[in-house]
Amino acid sequence: MVKGLFAPMANLRCAGILSRAFYHVMLPSKSLSGQIYSISRSAARASRLLTNGASRNFSGTSTKDIDSMNETELRAMVRKLMGASANKPSSVNTEQQRPAIMGAPENYVARPTKGEATSAGDEHSNITIVELKKMYSKNIPITMATAYDFPSAVHVDLAGIDVVLVGDSLGMVVLGYDTTLPVTFDEILHHCRAVSRGCKRPLLVGDLPFGSYEISAQEAQRNAYRLLKEGGMEAVKLEGADAGRLRTVETLVKGGIAVMGHIGLTPQSYSTLGGFRAQGKHAQQAISLIEQARHLVNAGVFAIVLECVPAEVAKEVTERISVPTIGIGAGIHTSGQVLVYHDLLGMMQHPHHAKVTPKFCKQFSSVGVTINEALKDFRREVRERTFPDLNYSPYKMASGELEAFRKMLPELDLKWGGIQNKVGSTESEETKVY
Ligand code: KIV
Repeated sequence: MVKGLFAPMANLRCAGILSRAFYHVMLPSKSLSGQIYSISRSAARASRLLTNGASRNFSGTSTKDIDSMNETELRAMVRKLMGASANKPSSVNTEQQRPAIMGAPENYVARPTKGEATSAGDEHSNITIVELKKMYSKNIPITMATAYDFPSAVHVDLAGIDVVLVGDSLGMVVLGYDTTLPVTFDEILHHCRAVSRGCKRPLLVGDLPFGSYEISAQEAQRNAYRLLKEGGMEAVKLEGADAGRLRTVETLVKGGIAVMGHIGLTPQSYSTLGGFRAQGKHAQQAISLIEQARHLVNAGVFAIVLECVPAEVAKEVTERISVPTIGIGAGIHTSGQVLVYHDLLGMMQHPHHAKVTPKFCKQFSSVGVTINEALKDFRREVRERTFPDLNYSPYKMASGELEAFRKMLPELDLKWGGIQNKVGSTESEETKVY
């Protein structure tokens, strides 16, 4: 492990080594423009990884080693070094930040392959679908929360949440709509990008919004690919389990996209349900939920959200399928739990949020009160002229400069007509039209 003062030096050295290694490996096989392109992208990737601290895994490699290596050895080392970077966070969507993946389509964007888990559910292991399966088989409860932007993503990641959903609930808690129906695909994509920049460990799931996947399996597939390629997501979620939806799930999974199902209360059915209503309260409905879950599993989902169903029904569903159930308002017996970020933090004071916070949601904090108090304190201190005091006025003129500056002011005032500050003037009142 490279620590303290030596880390930046080791990082620089290793960045050099990595880019040289890429240079050696790539040069013989590419056209000149391809070589330059590969090298600059490789070097950018190398230095990004290294400034992120990946150097700890290969601080022993020296420049001399590189020079004396043959091509096979160089290739092996590059593979090893790129593997060593597997735990690093990746951003999407900026050219210089994309990994150097040779032969990939130009618009290919990837998060790095995640590291192998040390043990299932370990708070340091990156969460993949495989890791999730391990947790499920060991009966470790899966934690899932929504996030919609960079700060919320960083928070859920730091807290060790396993799965992060960029949910279309953002329509209600972030965008101020009364339902999720108005949320557009572009809005979801925009929020996915921000979340993917803030998250390193959790599995990232992007919600397909209302209208983005129902028309045809092909359209769903196109949009789902965009959530992965442009939004930095690793899986998508969609609501429902009718025949059309099942065909879509199959198409997506066959096309290489991991899909999370969502049954019970499906908020995107607001229009046809005539409101947000708990599901599975009648025996026949409960049976139907089990069948829907089974169909979804057969179609290939890796997990299913069960929203607003009685706990006993959620239990029976969970016991009858072979993938994890993630409950929200579905009691204690599901394989995991999900809540909406703003709801669980008790973030909101406004009547809109009181209205859209569901009754199953425990508020684990009253962050909204804290925010409100902080904003009111800021306002008060500005009004009282107690903020910023000297502690928050850090920029000083060099000695002698202040005197010099003051001496220069009379001449400046002569030129510009003196002080023009309007404090105390009644001009604005006198010119009022209404
Ligand atoms: O959009 C969302 O946040 C969701 C969760 C409530 C599961 O679908």
